[in-house]
Amino acid sequence: MSDTTAHDSGIAVSAPKGAVRPGMIVPAIIDGIALDGRGVASASGRQLLVRGALPGDEVDARVFRRRGGRLEATCVSVRREGFPRREPRCAHTGQCGGCTWQQWEPGIQHEMKRRMVREALTRAMPDAAIEVLPVVAAGPEFGYRNKMEFTFGKDETGAVTLGLHRAGRFDATFDVKHCWIAPEGMNAVRAWVCEWARRNALVPYDPRRFGGALRHLVLREAAATGEVMANLVCAAGEMAGLDELSEGLPKELPQVKSLLFSVNTRRGDTAHAETTVLLSGRPAISERIGDMEVTVSPVSFLQTNSAGAERLYSVVGEVAGLSGEERVLDLYCGIGLIGTWLAPRAREVVGLEQVPSAVHDANAMRERLGYTHVQFRQGDAEVVLPAWADRGERFDVVIVDPPRAGLHPKVLAALVRMSPRVIVYVSCNPVTLAANVADLSSSGYRIGAAHPVDLFPHTPHIETVVRLEK
Ligand SMILES: C[S@@+](CC[C@H](N)C(=O)[O-])C[C@H]1O[C@@H](n2cnc3c(N)ncnc32)[C@H](O)[C@@H]1O
Repeated sequence: MSDTTAHDSGIAVSAPKGAVRPGMIVPAIIDGIALDGRGVASASGRQLLVRGALPGDEVDARVFRRRGGRLEATCVSVRREGFPRREPRCAHTGQCGGCTWQQWEPGIQHEMKRRMVREALTRAMPDAAIEVLPVVAAGPEFGYRNKMEFTFGKDETGAVTLGLHRAGRFDATFDVKHCWIAPEGMNAVRAWVCEWARRNALVPYDPRRFGGALRHLVLREAAATGEVMANLVCAAGEMAGLDELSEGLPKELPQVKSLLFSVNTRRGDTAHAETTVLLSGRPAISERIGDMEVTVSPVSFLQTNSAGAERLYSVVGEVAGLSGEERVLDLYCGIGLIGTWLAPRAREVVGLEQVPSAVHDANAMRERLGYTHVQFRQGDAEVVLPAWADRGERFDVVIVDPPRAGLHPKVLAALVRMSPRVIVYVSCNPVTLAANVADLSSSGYRIGAAHPVDLFPHTPHIETVVRLEK
């Protein structure tokens, strides 16, 4: 998420600029919330972003970095609470970069997310007065993640660990005892694989020195079927103990229906894989979202909260308000879930997506359902959409669900030329949503209410749906 702040602190400060330095603990009165969920205060005339604090808090904060003219800090103690805290369920709270909001009730988290969406929209369009509706809760508060990426590391004794990144650190992880936002099946697989790595004396990859082999364990667990996909990502193709892994893991934990082995020799800590082979089971697992039977392959995009996805798609359906007469474009369609969800209420649906295997899975689902009025096509939106606009393709309703970076300028321009009556914008990033909506508004689209849907409890992330009408 962007570092852009939702608030410029108005606190008067007497200390000269530069007096507060990394390493110092400073008192802070939080009077705003940044668009990445950190509390905003002021110190030495600079903006101070405090992790683990919300508006109204008076805290002591340890400054750990100065970046782009701002100071970044972590809350170390609370003198007065703006919103009441609760005992977090997770033993790793404060250490983990994941659930930084677990110490607040979901209702408080929702209020903060609503403020963040409102602030992002107001910043981009100060005069627009867009209504931001209350946040829709989407499914259970814990155990909701259908995908987790655990990272191998070492503890102080040198033993292999398999955990998550420390807050704000790409090069440091901690061993996870139990991740509460991951379902039970995934926690068991993580623990089993960690023990296996220890038994076989395998060496974790070192992101600073680039040695070692074990990088990540990417787990997907289908909420409806309980099926688990485990993908071991390593920096080398040869490794001791792979036979034990491929025979032992599915035997002892039968929820593992797909076990894969990927090689990533790149230095960057990305989720990239040069090769992926199937060690045991099937190449994909089965999930169900609403009535849709979904095939989940290793690289296909699936919303990381299955119950949340169902809720999100019903909001998209309500906001789109189809009558059955419309030609609909599902742009950035992934495995085609939004298009398939809307298909019973549309005259025709066309989906466009970059990843070939996702398009393959989308078309397989369309065939299973016998939808002859639906088709999914492969291509880059910024290349294909302008070409479609040139040749006069027209849609009544366009659903856009782009990655965090938002719509490419060529996609925006092509959309405006195609001039659909309705655009439904689905976004995981309020900052790019607001910028794109502002552009569409100046091209003649009226902006409806914003519908935030909480697919990511305990984190500051939020999904938002906005209807734009010509
Ligand atoms: C946020 S996901 C949305 C997926 C889908 N709407 C869903 O709910 O499952 C964004 C999708 O855009 C795809 N994508 C990213 N860049 C793209 C591009 N330039 N052209 C087409 N698709 C792209 C990604 O592969 C991903 O499937």
